[in-house]
Amino acid sequence: MSESASSRTYRWWETGVIYQIYPLTFADGNGDGIGDLRGIIERLDYLNDGDPKSSSALGINAIWLSPINKSPMIDNGYDIVDYQDICPTFGTLDDFDELLAKAHDRGIKIVLDLVVNHTSNQHPWFVESCTSQDHPKADWYLWQTPFEGQDRPNNWQSYFGGTGWTYCKQRGQFYFHTFNQNQPDLNWQNPDVRAAVYEIVRFWLDRGVDGFRLDASSVYSKDPYFRDNPLKYGATDKNDYNNYHHLYDKNLPENHQIIRELRTLLETYDDRVLIGETFIDNRLYDSVIFHGVDNDELHLPIAFEFPFSPWYPGYLQREIEKKEKVTPADGWPCYFLDNHDIPRHLSRWVECSLCVDANAIAKAAATLLLTIRGTPLLYYGQELGMVDNTDIPEDQLQDHAVVKSDTGETPPPRDGARTPMQWDDSAHAGFSFGKAVQPWLPVHANYPDLNVQSELTDPDSILNFYRRLLRVRQHSPALQYGCWRSLIHYPHEHMAYLRETETETVLIAINFAYEQPFTLDVSLDREAWTVLLSTDHEVGKAIDLPDTLQAFEVTLLQKTRD
Ligand code: GLC
Ligand code: CA
Repeated sequence: MSESASSRTYRWWETGVIYQIYPLTFADGNGDGIGDLRGIIERLDYLNDGDPKSSSALGINAIWLSPINKSPMIDNGYDIVDYQDICPTFGTLDDFDELLAKAHDRGIKIVLDLVVNHTSNQHPWFVESCTSQDHPKADWYLWQTPFEGQDRPNNWQSYFGGTGWTYCKQRGQFYFHTFNQNQPDLNWQNPDVRAAVYEIVRFWLDRGVDGFRLDASSVYSKDPYFRDNPLKYGATDKNDYNNYHHLYDKNLPENHQIIRELRTLLETYDDRVLIGETFIDNRLYDSVIFHGVDNDELHLPIAFEFPFSPWYPGYLQREIEKKEKVTPADGWPCYFLDNHDIPRHLSRWVECSLCVDANAIAKAAATLLLTIRGTPLLYYGQELGMVDNTDIPEDQLQDHAVVKSDTGETPPPRDGARTPMQWDDSAHAGFSFGKAVQPWLPVHANYPDLNVQSELTDPDSILNFYRRLLRVRQHSPALQYGCWRSLIHYPHEHMAYLRETETETVLIAINFAYEQPFTLDVSLDREAWTVLLSTDHEVGKAIDLPDTLQAFEVTLLQKTRD
């Protein structure tokens, strides 16, 4: 067992569970059909009411709010026009202060999304930058003129499809955008840009927010010579972005300098967290280097290993083992299953949900996420077993960043995973307080059965499973920060691993198989384990290690030492 499992102090963002809210569809407080801050305030008790014995709260420790700043909503808030104000759709700064205070009263931290790779093209900085090549803000964005005979400055692509360059008639030059043309990239090489962004960061930290999730945090810096990215040999991906080696528009050394500066700024405040999206097509290695050589960059780099994995124990375990090996000793891992950009896991892993019980997969996936070593990020509705709404009529789609991209192949819209939270079986799943108007995106048709209210009354529901699991985790130092060790080398149908501190061992066994029981063949002391949580054994009972795991069994067993 590593000494570090017990000998250092763990911070809230290491031991806690972070819950992502997509504000547009979590809860609508004023009844206009669009989610807002008032709605979130009304629903705080659902997330954590501050009472450890509470009968109904979920029991999370922090909220990450997808963007709430003023925005024309081309990319649903990931295109900002005023970083120091709240979008009127969501409320006011006073509402935000109230949310922050009430969350803090309940022991919930608030983490904001910080979208500073780019602004909206309606941001005053960009509007000014467009006016002329001599304007004081002329250099705040990435402006270029193509070489003679070329139709654009270089071959850099937009992640959302097509070229990353858009021509601005007014200025007579092209500007670069990693995402939609309405989201021009800032020029991070300009010290004035950095200073302006750091002022925004201070503004929110002074207000009391507990940290940030940096949006697209690996593409801030770009090659100053704007060299072409090399084409991958034989690449034929439908999204042209993936056909290039992103040598010159992503992960440049200067990017780490920027993150270090942000981290240094954060360290001047108490106990804040810096989380970063190390960009969607990056795998493990790219995310790990974002801890920084001296653990001076991101606290929690978000990589996409589970979203890119099939629902297969061998594959998932390999991802965990890799991360265990490469995460620096003073770094801390972070995992997630779902977010607002990808299909929800129960929709993604269709190969399993087609033939078996999605309820069982949801519980097994929850157990994996909440019992491996690292901070789990939950996405709203995941705790209910929400699945993507794939029946949204085209004229009601809201993902304009992707839908309206007019060049090349566009990735599918992301609306399916962003539909309203399913609170109860009343009109529109109880999403709106007050008037029952059409919500911003259509509620999934399964809401009369799949909702918070009905799941709270069903002891076998996914929600109640999450609630129990979160409580078990909260009371178990081993599950919060103990070291991780697999008991199986090449798992085919089940996973079994330990989490350990000097005084506690928790054995986690998950059977992925739905047909037959499985032999739990591990060499451990078999006597006197206490059942912490199980789909098949009575909780609290002392049992011997079972010889077999039942189909889809999930069991957590504990041993303590003085
Ligand atoms: C991130 C966000 C995504 C957004 C993009 C551009 O990947 O998660 O929703 O569209 O950045 O800001
Ligand atoms: Ca509203």
